[in-house]
Amino acid sequence: MTHGSCKWLIPLAARTAAAHTLWSISFYSGCCVMEPKKEDQSDLFAGYRTMFKSFATDAIHIGQEPEQWKSMAVVPPISLSTTFKQNGPGNHAGFEYSRSGNPTRNVLEKAVAALDGAKYCLALASGLAATVTITHMLKAGDGIVCMDDVYGGTNRYFQKVAAQFGLKISFADCTKPELLKAALKNNTKMVWIETPTNPTMKVVDIRACSDLVHEHNKDIIVVVDNTFMSSYFQRPLALGADICMYSATKYMNGHSDVVMGLISVNNETIYDRLKFLQNALGGVPSPFDCYLCNRGLKTLHIRMERHFKNAMAAARFLEADPRVERVIFPGLPSHPQYDVMKKQCTGCPGMITFYIKGKLEHATTFLSNLKMFAVAESLGGYESLAEHPAIMTHASVPENERAVLGISDTLIRLSVGLENEEDVIEDLAQALAAAHPEKK
Ligand SMILES: Cc1ncc(COP(=O)(O)O)c(C=O)c1O
Repeated sequence: MTHGSCKWLIPLAARTAAAHTLWSISFYSGCCVMEPKKEDQSDLFAGYRTMFKSFATDAIHIGQEPEQWKSMAVVPPISLSTTFKQNGPGNHAGFEYSRSGNPTRNVLEKAVAALDGAKYCLALASGLAATVTITHMLKAGDGIVCMDDVYGGTNRYFQKVAAQFGLKISFADCTKPELLKAALKNNTKMVWIETPTNPTMKVVDIRACSDLVHEHNKDIIVVVDNTFMSSYFQRPLALGADICMYSATKYMNGHSDVVMGLISVNNETIYDRLKFLQNALGGVPSPFDCYLCNRGLKTLHIRMERHFKNAMAAARFLEADPRVERVIFPGLPSHPQYDVMKKQCTGCPGMITFYIKGKLEHATTFLSNLKMFAVAESLGGYESLAEHPAIMTHASVPENERAVLGISDTLIRLSVGLENEEDVIEDLAQALAAAHPEKK
């Protein structure tokens, strides 16, 4: 195990070659070995998957060393104390006050840094607290170019809050690098990418965009919101991004019982500034939430595999169903950026977006008739959830913008959980039948 190193990441060229020639890649004594691999027709992603080496081992062990505690606790304790005794003024064992540093938070931050192939990680009180903290690196007059389809709360924060403080916000469809290039201005200081996007699942080529932005100006900070993918399926820092952030409320914690944000970085200057802002702005998570999220990470690899398997089955089922207009799932060859996905990701999470045939009433009837899926906001937990973005998560996106993005009345977003595959499909089938009784 090597803490916080990205030395295991396969060079992009090798991964690209692997993606297109169906090679499998394995590692022996730190060397990358490529060999031909048979395509498995049961998994459309088979032959393209190159997992991050020792991911599970790192998730379980990095930052968790029992030796750091006097008790030698194998499971990191929840350190609730807000203050820490100093041997004399300024003479302390690394902790002073819990906002500026907390032992349980430290454990989590070390684990996440390792999983992202990063040197540093910072935990925040929510995904949006992470967004706000990152944005505070800028000053009035600075420009942010944001992917046109992002989480509604990110859009709302940029347009309705950050803009009030003098930041200049513009949006570009970063799936078309030429549009991103055209959006870069002299005052651009940050580019905000979300991939896949929420909810229309557009996939952005992180390497292409990061290179393009840094060629324009190497000091522009490229941020990737990696919430949908988790560290298990995508490592933006290895693809040229400067900051990888999460709503850890989703897959990273994975149990729908913590609201949290995470930021991973390699650049020391950026880290120092963010560490300062974490303390200065104060949006820190509780030790209990850090404990829970750290625990959630221990099964991230197992959970993500099952999300992928269930979602792939559900996406194929929906795509073949005549009551469904269109399915957007990046693991299906029908996805417009399927090739980018295979190139930069190690798999797909449980997120599926689809357009049901008909009108708003068909979408709402479908949702109201789901039995196992809960109609609820959020995503990435062990339980299956379904929602109506136009009415729920993306209601804060102005209506005209929703129309341009395709967030229509018939758009439904699923977060496929970890239940049995056949039960997931059965629930979708019966709700589709309720929405379209004439087409049973
Ligand atoms: C992609 C994405 N980024 C950021 C956020 C904001 O995170 P939080 O709800 O933890 O503040 C969300 C929330 O749904 C999200 O889906």
